[in-house]
Amino acid sequence: MDSFPLEPDRAAMGEMGGLVLGRVMDFVESLPDRPTGNTTDPQETADLVKSFLAEPPEEAGDLTALLDRLERAVECSLETAGPGYLAYVPGGGLYSSALAEFYTRAVNRYGSLAMVAPALTALEESVLRWMARDVCGLPEGSTGLLTTGGSMATFSAVVAARHQRLGEDLTGGTAYVTAYAHHSVAKAARLAGIAARNVRTVPCTADLRMDTEAAAAMISADRAAGLRPFLLVGSAGTTGTGAVDPLPALAGLAEREDLWFHVDAAYGGFFRLTERGRRRLAGTERADSVTLDPHKTLFLPFGTGALVVRDPATLYAAHEGTGDYLQDLGSADGLPNYAHLGPELTHEVRGLRAWIPLHLHGVAAFRDALDEKLDLAERVHDRLAGLPALEVPWRPELSTVAFRVRPRDSGADAVEEADRATRHLLDRINDDPRVLLSSTVADGRQTIRVCVVVHRTHADRIDGLLDRISTLVAA
Ligand SMILES: Cc1ncc(COP(=O)(O)O)c(C=O)c1O
Repeated sequence: MDSFPLEPDRAAMGEMGGLVLGRVMDFVESLPDRPTGNTTDPQETADLVKSFLAEPPEEAGDLTALLDRLERAVECSLETAGPGYLAYVPGGGLYSSALAEFYTRAVNRYGSLAMVAPALTALEESVLRWMARDVCGLPEGSTGLLTTGGSMATFSAVVAARHQRLGEDLTGGTAYVTAYAHHSVAKAARLAGIAARNVRTVPCTADLRMDTEAAAAMISADRAAGLRPFLLVGSAGTTGTGAVDPLPALAGLAEREDLWFHVDAAYGGFFRLTERGRRRLAGTERADSVTLDPHKTLFLPFGTGALVVRDPATLYAAHEGTGDYLQDLGSADGLPNYAHLGPELTHEVRGLRAWIPLHLHGVAAFRDALDEKLDLAERVHDRLAGLPALEVPWRPELSTVAFRVRPRDSGADAVEEADRATRHLLDRINDDPRVLLSSTVADGRQTIRVCVVVHRTHADRIDGLLDRISTLVAA
């Protein structure tokens, strides 16, 4: 057994790195054949959980043995990196981004105050400006903050909106979302001190998109009742069905009513790199702030979200804070101090995990991959819509297709029976270790969803899924 000191020499670094890299390459190569579900039996899972809850030992361990243990822990999970992961909103995890992350962690530069590492701050800023301007279409001067995920991005957006529109007195501040908005919006509002009763659920039209007229009526009624409407949130792709709210109409409403307009583009945002996505997500460019999630549709590993804002001064006004112990660290010309744009002080240089993939593969590689996902979703829609046993109520605007068992008639009993059959169908589909789908409730009905986002998912996997569904519903 080799034991490694806290500061390994070159030979030891090579040995440690080689051991880890070898496992990682084996893992990535095995992805097409790995089962999507967790195949570890309950007793072994319980044993593994117990062993991992143990405290660290006094004496040194063996890296090979630790990696063996880790491999078992990785196996005891859903396969969220593989081509068959079509559940929730997947994130594949680019190998190049994992390498960038290793580099970031090894050089351990401080990413929060620009003067400490100006060129690396510029690198992160270039990623943010690209997301704000090229991806979202916000004007020159817009930028933002890389976060740990979409929820944190939305939290800072709501805090900025609250600070700008309500000031210190939050009384009566009301926000507007639909029932299909991601729950992180209501959570962010609550964390930001907005009363839960003042997060209004605006009705949807039959296509599950926010009803703009209903929103306008609610805002007027609330204002007349002495409340203070301040925030309107549109979804650029809901988690459940991928529906896109009528963003241009909502932008117009927010302008007329002087509300902050936030677009939750955590799922949909990067589809704007494609021609179809840009058309379907038009209106995003009129937002005050946009949540993006590079760990979804930019294929980065989990742990990276982004908030981009039209006017960075609004983020700064809401989050700025400093202490005497930071007096030696001034500012760097033209570069932001990210510590003043969000809740965290210390954080790593987050930009590298996107900057390396974008510069290494080129933006066109991402555009092509996202276009492929849109094509695959249309393929799913067209095949499933041809199966009489199924209802496929909405043509996908992005890469999510929702479907369910068609009730034999419109009576309540028939609908209940179809809902049970839908859940049964999901279980049967997921019996196949090559795919994993998840479900939601849409329009009050049990609904299965296929969400194609992993960069490793291609037509072969989707065709296998479609063949299986056809066989199951024909049986
Ligand atoms: C539309 C939407 N918004 C926000 C989020 C929350 O993002 P995160 O899980 O990165 O915090 C999700 C997550 O799936 C989402 O789909």
